[in-house]
Amino acid sequence: MYPIVAPSILAADFSELAEQIKIVEDAGAKILHLDIMDGHFVPNISFGPEIVSTINKITNLPLDVHLMIDEPIRYISQFVKSGADNITIHVEACKDVLATLNEIKNQNIKASISLKPNTSVSQIEPYLNLVDMVLVMSVEPGFGGQSFIESSLEKVKEIKNINPKMIIEIDGGIDLANASRVVESGVHILVAGNAIFKSNDIAESFLQIQKNAEIKK
Ligand code: DX5
Ligand code: ZN
Repeated sequence: MYPIVAPSILAADFSELAEQIKIVEDAGAKILHLDIMDGHFVPNISFGPEIVSTINKITNLPLDVHLMIDEPIRYISQFVKSGADNITIHVEACKDVLATLNEIKNQNIKASISLKPNTSVSQIEPYLNLVDMVLVMSVEPGFGGQSFIESSLEKVKEIKNINPKMIIEIDGGIDLANASRVVESGVHILVAGNAIFKSNDIAESFLQIQKNAEIKK
């Protein structure tokens, strides 16, 4: 099943959102990555549960919801109702990480944890046996189109050393050039926004990154 590329619609043209989602779905995408930003945990504001719900109506793809919001526990049930299949929370955003993860698990969807580039793996280690996936941020969360931070691959290896079976997603700065080595370091899911939606050919770019991700070095 892995590696898979998860298109992040943050970089899509929102006036053509339905069409652009259909393009990646038809091209063979297996999941869709949705970035929720509150202007507080991160400086940017994106969209909320209503848009997630609308997206859920227009696609069959599982929705991978990345919450970049403070105290996400307040909004878990809303995002579950909106159709989230996985919810990722940030370890830095929660007073009670355990309660937040349990709130997600209790709703029978997947629960994942993420860490920012300057957060050490030791901070998420206590939760690794509870989560379905770890999302390693390879840029400072908040904006698409930033450059990939190479040292995030060390973090991927560190997580692998602690739990070789852990599913790992990486988010930020993924493109044609780095897809292969990212997978080589142990990543299963590659989030890509700009490299897909800001290109001249959305379907072709998705397919190329997927193809490169599958190349063994
Ligand atoms: C950044 C978001 C990413 C973003 C990735 O805070 O979490 O999902 O959309 O965009 P690119 O691939 O353009 O770096
Ligand atoms: Zn994201």
